[in-house]
Amino acid sequence: MEYILYEQKGAVGIITISREKALNALNSTVLKEIDATLDAVNLDEVRCLILTGAGEKSFVAGADIGEMSSLTKTEGEAFGKIGNDVFRKLEVFPIPVIAAINGFALGGGCEIAMSCDIRICSDNAVFGQPEVGLGITPGFGGTQRLPRLVGMGIAKQMIYTGRNIKADEAFRIGLVNAVYTQEELMPNAEKLAATIAKNAPIAVRNCKKAINDGMQTDMDQAIVIEEKLFGDCFESYDQKEGMTAFLEKRKVEAFLNK
Ligand code: CAA
Repeated sequence: MEYILYEQKGAVGIITISREKALNALNSTVLKEIDATLDAVNLDEVRCLILTGAGEKSFVAGADIGEMSSLTKTEGEAFGKIGNDVFRKLEVFPIPVIAAINGFALGGGCEIAMSCDIRICSDNAVFGQPEVGLGITPGFGGTQRLPRLVGMGIAKQMIYTGRNIKADEAFRIGLVNAVYTQEELMPNAEKLAATIAKNAPIAVRNCKKAINDGMQTDMDQAIVIEEKLFGDCFESYDQKEGMTAFLEKRKVEAFLNK
């Protein structure tokens, strides 16, 4: 891999986008490598992922403007699809993904963060969808995920103005769950990931699927989705162990992901 670092620490996988000279901007190669990295995650061992950017200045400063500058209409649509397909893979990835946003999260950077399950950031983080200032729309899901996350009014204001916001405002509007100093960001991301990884993995996966799938449909269908995923848990060893441990007033010995 040219631009992606992947490290497994116990049950936590850490993906680092490492193209620091271009503030980790997403060109086609970076996108392909993220895709390949996700395909290679060992889902028997890894129970939570962290996605971050290399360096202390930028998480991801957007899609690569140099690469996009000469695209035709057809090529533009195809480039959008490459990004959308990878981001969707991240969004529906079986295990939770935490975005640890360590600086600029602009355009495609904000969009990849929004494809993750949970966002936390450093106090120097800057968020925005500046695309209209470049003559384009957000093209990696920003017009769809930002309104779903922060509400239509704030999303429209951010997208139409192209104005960037700082970490405290991102926290206030619910775009991130927490703000840390740069030094505290990764330790807190790892702590959060480890807390998630300690829980019954099949249950956590089913929670992700229930929330993701249920939020895309009406309540009547959504509760049916929940019932099915709830029911599925009762086939698992981990449900037996979790409930038996409670009834026997002891700690869970181990969740075995089965
Ligand atoms: N694409 C390509 N290169 C980028 C880039 C991007 N999105 N963002 C930064 N870079 C490059 C710069 O060109 C520069 O390269 P050189 O040293 O070779 O000139 C290097 O990264 C450092 O950047 P700056 O010198 O500009 O650093 P700065 O500290 O002065 O400014 C910044 C930082 C405010 C983030 C500024 O770089 C910037 O505005 N970047 C573009 C942000 C942006 O508009 N993102 C949205 C892209 S469009 C998009 O993402 C579409 C989509 O939805 C799919």
